[in-house]
Amino acid sequence: MDDKHIQILKDLGFDIDKKMMTNEYWKRRAAEALALTTQDRDVYGCLDHTVGEGVRLFDVEGTEYLDVTGGVAVRALGLRYKPDIEFEASINDVVRELPGMDFDAIPQTLLAERVAGITPGNHKKRVVFTTSGGRAVEGCLKSAIDLTGKRRVVGFRPAFHGRTGYALALTSSNSKHKSGFPQGLDVIRVFYPYCYRCPYGTNPEDCSVECVEALRYALQVEGNDIAVTVMEPICGEGGLIVPASKAVKGVYDLTREVGAYFMSDEVQAGMGRTGKWCAIENHGVVPDYIAMGKAIGGGYPMGASIGPAPMFTGGSRHSETFSAEPKMSLLSLWLIKTMEDGDYLRKNAENGTYLMKRLNELKDKYEEVGDVRGIGLMVGIEFVKDKKSKEKAPKLRDSIVKNAVQKQKLWILGAGQNVIRFTPSYVITQDNLDDAVERLDRAIKESV
Ligand SMILES: Cc1ncc(COP(=O)(O)O)c(C=O)c1O
Repeated sequence: MDDKHIQILKDLGFDIDKKMMTNEYWKRRAAEALALTTQDRDVYGCLDHTVGEGVRLFDVEGTEYLDVTGGVAVRALGLRYKPDIEFEASINDVVRELPGMDFDAIPQTLLAERVAGITPGNHKKRVVFTTSGGRAVEGCLKSAIDLTGKRRVVGFRPAFHGRTGYALALTSSNSKHKSGFPQGLDVIRVFYPYCYRCPYGTNPEDCSVECVEALRYALQVEGNDIAVTVMEPICGEGGLIVPASKAVKGVYDLTREVGAYFMSDEVQAGMGRTGKWCAIENHGVVPDYIAMGKAIGGGYPMGASIGPAPMFTGGSRHSETFSAEPKMSLLSLWLIKTMEDGDYLRKNAENGTYLMKRLNELKDKYEEVGDVRGIGLMVGIEFVKDKKSKEKAPKLRDSIVKNAVQKQKLWILGAGQNVIRFTPSYVITQDNLDDAVERLDRAIKESV
């Protein structure tokens, strides 16, 4: 951190100097001050908020990392993308906050039109802007309950939809998130279509979508009075699982058959990551509801619940104080335009295919790499004891992550119990991807 930024902290009243810039010092101080962290402080350093470019991150000691997390799928165009900074500077004088759900303003209206336009389906849509992905899911849920008058929903295991209220009720990716907290919503839960570990013992080539039949059976015996089925088009936190399209389509058809709505949770997989604006498009399904988050805010906290018009039976059925403030809306509009002008959807699909090819080389090389799967720039590698038994190897996964971060300087994250995921920023190049795969290769070699 340079003198200027240390001075800013001093001016804010903190007695801080260069000697304090060590990971250990700041991790200790963070642990004393912050209630929670989702990741292990033993693994990751303390990030320097004043430097970084594209897919290059730095910790407070000045160590450089190659980032393949994209800020957990948030930083679509990487760190401190120059044209983004310039655009933001050009709108610095707009009003920062206007109460968007109380009064109309132009940026949020244009953004709602734009978001409705890039998401699948020509039906009449309405948009509610939110401040997070979980709230985007909850906005859709409330709308579906409001419109149908039904209260129960279909969800999956594993699944991740957020950590609060109704969203947490649908989450089922890790008992740490859920146990002890009350269930806010009545969920009929079935297995996510997880073809590498098909819970029904079949394989995708010759299966009869037993997962869809399991849902049919659940609705027969538990009741089909459901408002909405909520599905991730690619299961993210739960283990980077790509479902078979015929299973997603089957779930969609069955949902519609019983008169319920279908929601695609695009918080992690959406905004062009998979080569389509919404990942559900890869499965040939047009959802009734779409929850967006993460990348849509261009680095700021924003989400969007998108649903069929009129979405709510009346005004004031749902609201948030903060939502799509003028500056954020303009930044989001800029991001969408920049992605179109820069042909990022095509690039993401192409780079994703390249990454899968490179990671499949690791699958050929190591007995412990059981599966490589993904669409576009959302890719997972599942670690097992050996390919035949497919026994999950969570400890090995943890050692690989630790080695990758600390020794190879590859900033990477796990998913599920035994998976490593790639959700890089869209500015990543094939050279960066080669570099990342080589670093991961070394981390695996030193860990098996
Ligand atoms: C698929 C999915 N839905 C919802 C969420 C929750 O988003 P947020 O943490 O912004 O509430 C996440 C976060 O990782 C997610 O991956």
